[in-house]
Amino acid sequence: MKIGIPKERKNHEYRVGATPNYVHALHSLGNSIVVQKGAGEKIGFSDEAYRHAGAVIVDTPEEVYDAEMIIKVKEPQPEEYSLLKEGQILYAYLHLAPDPHQTQALLEAGIVGIAYETVIDANGRLPLLTPMSEVAGRISIQAGATALQMANGGRGVLLGGVPGVRPANVVVIGGGVVGTQAARMAVGLGASVTVLDRSLDRLRQLDETFDFRIRTLYSTQENIRDLLPEADLVIGAVLIPGKSAPKLVTKQMVQSMQQGSVIVDVAIDQGGCVETAKPTTHSDPTYIEDGVVHYCVTNMPGACARTSTEALTNATLPYALSIAKHGYAKALLENPWLTPGLNVYHGKVTNQHVALDLGYEYHPPETVLV
Ligand SMILES: NC(=O)c1ccc[n+]([C@@H]2O[C@H](COP(=O)([O-])OP(=O)(O)OC[C@H]3O[C@@H](n4cnc5c(N)ncnc54)[C@H](O)[C@@H]3O)[C@@H](O)[C@H]2O)c1
Repeated sequence: MKIGIPKERKNHEYRVGATPNYVHALHSLGNSIVVQKGAGEKIGFSDEAYRHAGAVIVDTPEEVYDAEMIIKVKEPQPEEYSLLKEGQILYAYLHLAPDPHQTQALLEAGIVGIAYETVIDANGRLPLLTPMSEVAGRISIQAGATALQMANGGRGVLLGGVPGVRPANVVVIGGGVVGTQAARMAVGLGASVTVLDRSLDRLRQLDETFDFRIRTLYSTQENIRDLLPEADLVIGAVLIPGKSAPKLVTKQMVQSMQQGSVIVDVAIDQGGCVETAKPTTHSDPTYIEDGVVHYCVTNMPGACARTSTEALTNATLPYALSIAKHGYAKALLENPWLTPGLNVYHGKVTNQHVALDLGYEYHPPETVLV
């Protein structure tokens, strides 16, 4: 199979879909790999390293998109839509539910879209989202701590306080992977942390893991509303897989927050769980609305692109090898955990949440792949 690894185009996105080791593994199976010049250069993966691993380096995205399968990190950007080809496999984060334009473009292109974020594992977890959620969760506290500084519009509160001065109140909404890592970082810095989730099992696990160093609270509108006026930093970390994030923090709740407090809406890649959240970029990551600093970068792990690329590709490689070895139909049908990754297929929506959220007819993957 001919496989293409393009250079990412999103603002300040330096991650790459495959490392030289990844390319070597695909090449060893007899696949031919084309890598766009400079795809991994910024994070220390030189063209020479890819060449050494068996890839051909090409100058243009057009040459990469000539491949049967594209392996990348983020969803294609609008300028890439015209490069996609009927029947081409696109293996990447897609986040279609909150993105009707991209969904329409992928359907029109007739591609086979396998989205990292909807692949599941035997425990119902999201193995290809997890590594990036771990990174984003940890970054969220660093980003929040920076945004809390005066020069950045924040209220000048140090997360851990100092002896004699109370620490910051950090409220984490959603206690999954992002929320757990955010709580871990915030606790490590000495903040006072409350995590809300609507899964009691999750809250029990967190309670045990953190051994009384955080407070857990069942997620209701009332509980969120009560906590926000006292919060210095709010982390939005909810997820209903494949669906747009529920708007748990309303504009009115944001207006109840203290001037200069900070919201980091990590769930922004699924549309955001805060009503006032709008997507931002690494070059202009924050804005102030209703006196509250909002950080809503949709590709947070891109800030630590080297760590993130290694963490992501460790998780994505086994599925890529299976698709390249068996072809997508066999790989998807024989691995029930990969099957939910199929989001679009030759103009049909094959993910139930995407279909529901965007008003398309749903075609179960098993019915289109036979
Ligand atoms: N911005 C970025 O760069 C970036 C990077 C990685 C992940 N993310 C996003 O972060 C979000 C969280 O990802 P994750 O891996 O932690 O997901 P996860 O599934 O591990 O955790 C989500 C948690 O949200 C909880 N939840 C669902 N509805 C809730 C509600 N009404 N109130 C409170 N909790 C609720 C779930 O019970 C679950 O524990 C996702 O939207 C993901 O796409 C963003």
